[in-house]
Parts: sequence; structure tokens; C-alpha cells
Amino acid sequence: MGVPVSVFFGFFVGLVLVVGLVSSAKFEELFQPSWALDHFIHEGELLKLKLDNHSGAGFSSKSKYMFGKVSIQIKLVEGDSAGTVTAFYMSSDGPNHNEFDFEFLGNTTGEPYSVQTNVYVNGVGNREQRLNLWFDPTKEFHSYSLFWNQRQVVFLVDETPIRLHTNMENKGIPFPKDQAMGVYSSIWNADDWATQGGRIKTDWTHAPFIATYKGFEIDGCECPVSVAAADNAKKCISSAERRYWWDEPTLSELNVHQSHQLMWVRANHMVYDYCTDTARFPVLPPECMHHRH
Ligand SMILES: *[C@@H]1O[C@H](CO)[C@@H](O)[C@H](O)[C@H]1NC(C)=O
Repeated sequence: MGVPVSVFFGFFVGLVLVVGLVSSAKFEELFQPSWALDHFIHEGELLKLKLDNHSGAGFSSKSKYMFGKVSIQIKLVEGDSAGTVTAFYMSSDGPNHNEFDFEFLGNTTGEPYSVQTNVYVNGVGNREQRLNLWFDPTKEFHSYSLFWNQRQVVFLVDETPIRLHTNMENKGIPFPKDQAMGVYSSIWNADDWATQGGRIKTDWTHAPFIATYKGFEIDGCECPVSVAAADNAKKCISSAERRYWWDEPTLSELNVHQSHQLMWVRANHMVYDYCTDTARFPVLPPECMHHRH
């Protein structure tokens, strides 16, 4: 009996794996509008989100996920985008939520877009980093990704790591790994702070401001809302029977090439790092002490 049972079990586990992993380039399969449906424009494979003086717009994933990789290709607002923010992020729910954020801060025509990233753990953020990109993100589509496993969270731009948040639980620092997260994107008016510290306001005579999306991909462990959080967490951790690709040992840290890329980004494109802001943090947050610079 042993053999058939284990064969059946293997088949069953394989089935769970196939069902749990989702990868798709189609917006409708993975996402739904969360607000301002009339500010969505579908053009073939492209999705456009519109911001005008009535409203911005946003969408969210239909499911929540634990671990894996989420990617979207975005072409940001062309021309004058001052005062606008386009965000792409993952977030869990509740007061002690975790969140991984990309925020693209617009600028006046000809001035560079900035990318602000942030990480919330147990409801606490204040971990901003800001960089200027090495290309004009309004001219072409570029891919923006979040890779997440139990060891690290990596923010990637065209597969180049721009930020690494490492698991340092062994030093007593909490790491986001027990809450399923939704995937979100939105465009809104943030002219009270976004551009040159809020000095440049949105010029509504240049509206609508349009961010264009394609290539939606989620390759993670899907967590149905109907399933208890603890059961989802258990299901999404690799075990003897079931090994998820993001738990491969080679993905437990950046490879040498990626480490060099991250060093290059930090040296050449970083304009702000909370970990070096001693005016704001006379005592630097604990994870900053252990950073390898
Ligand atoms: C906008 O352009 C100015 C001038 O080049 C630059 O200092 C700033 O960092 C840019 N980004 C934002 C979000 O203000």
C-alpha cells in the first residue's frame, strides 16, 4: 500500500502547487479596479490609469499572496507630472500590517522622476529611500518587481536590485513573513509633499495625467481569503514534500552580480537613505546598524 499512497500524495501535492502558483500577463485574471472605474482605459494589452482634478484611480489583486515575485511594466506620466504620485506596492491588512512600496514621484517637464521606496513591518514604516533612475521612465515601459521570501525582500527595476531588506530576526529585528499581502497600484494627487518637497503644485491645465501598465505577473503562493491565516502561512512555506522556487538556497541572498548592481545603484543613483539620516534618527533604526555599506 505504501507506494500507491505516496504516489497519490505526490500527485495531490503537485496539484496544490499548480493551483497555488499564479503567473499571468492579463490584468483581469489577477487584478480588479478598487476605485474610479471611469478613470481606467483599456487599450488592447495596455491599461491606462488617469488622474484629473476629479479623481485618481487604483487597482488591487483579487487574491493575497505569501512569498514569490510580483512584476508590472509601467510607463510613467509623460511631460509635466509634478505633484502626482504613481504607486506600486504590496500590503497586508490590519493595524500591524506589512508593506513594500514603490512610489514614483512626478516632476516638472524635463526634470527627473524620483523613486521612493519604503518598508513597513508590523505597522511601522519610516524606512524611506529615494533614488533617481538611470533612464527616463516616461519614455518606455520598464519592469518593477518585488521579490519576497523568508530571507529577504528585494526591490528590482528591470531586474536590477535597487533595495534589499534582509531578515535579521537572529538579531531580534522583526521581519515581514507571517502575513499574506495584496498587490496594489494607484495614481493620485500628492502635491502637498511629492515634488520638490511640496513646493511645486499639480498644474491641472496639464491633466489628465496618465500612467500606462502592461505585463502583469504574479508568481507566488496564493492565499485564499476563505482559508485561515495560519493555514495559509503553513501552506506557503516549503517543506519536504513541497519546495517553492523562491526558497531555493541560491535565492536566500543576492548573488555576486546582483550585489555589485545594488552597490552601483546606491553609489550613483541614491539621493536619500533613512539609514544615513542622523538628523531624523539620532539613534539609527536597529536594522541600519547591521547594513553592509
Ligand atoms: C525634481 O527635480 C528637481 C530638480 O532637478 C530634483 O531636485 C528633485 O529631486 C526631483 N524630484 C522630485 C520628486 O522633486
